[in-house]
Amino acid sequence: MSGRFITLEGGEGAGKSTQLRALAAALAARGIDVVTTREPGGSPGAEAIRSLLMEGSDDRWDARSEALLFAAARADHVARTIRPALARGAWVLCDRFVDSSRAYQGGGGGLTDADILALHAFGSEGLLPDRTFLLTLGGGEAAKRLSVRDAAGADRMGSKPADYQARLAARFAELAAAEPDRWRVIDAGGAPDAVTSRLMEHLEPWL
Ligand SMILES: Nc1ncnc2c1ncn2[C@@H]1O[C@H](COP(=O)(O)OP(=O)(O)O)[C@@H](O)[C@H]1O
Ligand SMILES: [Mg+2]
Repeated sequence: MSGRFITLEGGEGAGKSTQLRALAAALAARGIDVVTTREPGGSPGAEAIRSLLMEGSDDRWDARSEALLFAAARADHVARTIRPALARGAWVLCDRFVDSSRAYQGGGGGLTDADILALHAFGSEGLLPDRTFLLTLGGGEAAKRLSVRDAAGADRMGSKPADYQARLAARFAELAAAEPDRWRVIDAGGAPDAVTSRLMEHLEPWL
């Protein structure tokens, strides 16, 4: 028995966490055993590493150390949470996964996509999702959503300028285009319910 591994990707403010909750509810209503989780984190060890990654100044870690911390957190998350859930037949919905490392860490600081994939091959034995949804939203719209959500201030990962967000969006689009069987690009605009329906449409064949 093996469940389905589904990840949500995209820039901050696109609605990943909102849609993860909505998808979990919609799938549970169909009688599916659903596990929701997030990166970095998703297991006690990985949550401890998450604090190291999310707190502190922007330059707390150099690029290589940061990539290793993400990979270490993911390895524990995969071994302790994701693989056991899939093995018992649950569907795992994960808010960000290795593709976020590829998009955020694999295109700068002297690190390549191949570097990130090599760390993932070792740490998580290369586990990839069955389906990855890329939530796309214009930069202005995402910023608007974030200004409401993060009135109290962003963390280490969330306070980057607009040109950075645009490069990130382009990078995600490249990853999606390179692996069209795994990825589905979803318009994240409009009401939350409408976005959830778009996502569910793509999962319908598995239901
Ligand atoms: N479809 C939507 N329309 C308007 N606001 C939304 C929508 N989806 C999410 N939001 C709000 O926008 C903010 C960012 O959403 P969130 O799910 O936290 O995004 P992400 O996890 O991708 O950063 C939250 O305050 C959320 O309530
Ligand atoms: Mg989120």
